[in-house]
Amino acid sequence: MKLLLDCDTGVDDAVAIAYALASPEAEVLGIGSVHGNVEADTAAENTLKVLGLVGRTDVPVAVGAERPLLRPLDLAKLVHGEDGLGNTNLPPSGLSPSGEHAADQIVRLARELPGEVTLVCTAPLTNVAIALMKEPRLPSLVREVVLMGGTAVEPGNVGPVAEANVYHDPEAASLVFAAPWRIRMAGLDVTMRTLLREHHLERLSAADTPLTDCLVSVLAHYFEFYTGSLGHRACAMHDSVAVGLALGTVEVLESHLLPVYVCTSDGPALGQTVVDRRPLANRSFSAPGAHTEVMFRIGGEEFLNHLVRRLCELVV
Ligand code: RIB
Ligand code: CA
Repeated sequence: MKLLLDCDTGVDDAVAIAYALASPEAEVLGIGSVHGNVEADTAAENTLKVLGLVGRTDVPVAVGAERPLLRPLDLAKLVHGEDGLGNTNLPPSGLSPSGEHAADQIVRLARELPGEVTLVCTAPLTNVAIALMKEPRLPSLVREVVLMGGTAVEPGNVGPVAEANVYHDPEAASLVFAAPWRIRMAGLDVTMRTLLREHHLERLSAADTPLTDCLVSVLAHYFEFYTGSLGHRACAMHDSVAVGLALGTVEVLESHLLPVYVCTSDGPALGQTVVDRRPLANRSFSAPGAHTEVMFRIGGEEFLNHLVRRLCELVV
């Protein structure tokens, strides 16, 4: 499985990247960075830190869009820490990004490997939207897009009905959902039920590898943030779900092929993924052009156990 990741590396992105690198099913072709949790260049440096930690300095990292297409920059440092890695202030990676723009990296790899690249997006969709504008044939060149973003029924996490990755660049997300490619959407409906708990952290601690030791310290701040909002001790492993879906390691219990639109109007619904569920309620209502498989239920507990096992087993 040839994966091209696009991340705003942040805490759960860092876990997702490590998980992809720990997975024998995955060939990670490259990783793009984008604004979102932190600035695009900080996200790239955080990605390089993860790559350095697991000895995968062969994977190219491309810095992407520094801000949304139309809107001002809005970061999520409260959730992920000032450095994006839980205020751990890890030493500099000593590594450099490739110099290619992340959108160009998407276009280049899709052209070089037509029909083979799975684009896994765990961040605002600005790079992907720019890539679509640069190469209108992109939807036919990419195998599929698997993204962490949006929500169908679950409340939003940055607004009443908006999920952060879509909210941080709704115009980009609107372009991506409208393009004629196969999309699989892991939104808050499934990621807010895929919660890492203390017993998972204990297993990571007990593994005592350079990667697990680092992840345990990186996760601490994020875990406390989520504990405050959830009211019990846990944190959401949003981005790993998208990687697991791409790899086929997440069991899909309920999903539906539905039209998805993005609200780009200012106001309380800004950034909402409007998922047209009418075909589910009324069998005679067809939804022409539906091309997004929206996840409603997955085997979250089994996936978390598998995720933790993989992370523990990755010894450099
Ligand atoms: O809403 C969750 C998403 O927003 C995750 O991708 C997290 O890393 C943040 O980017
Ligand atoms: Ca992310």
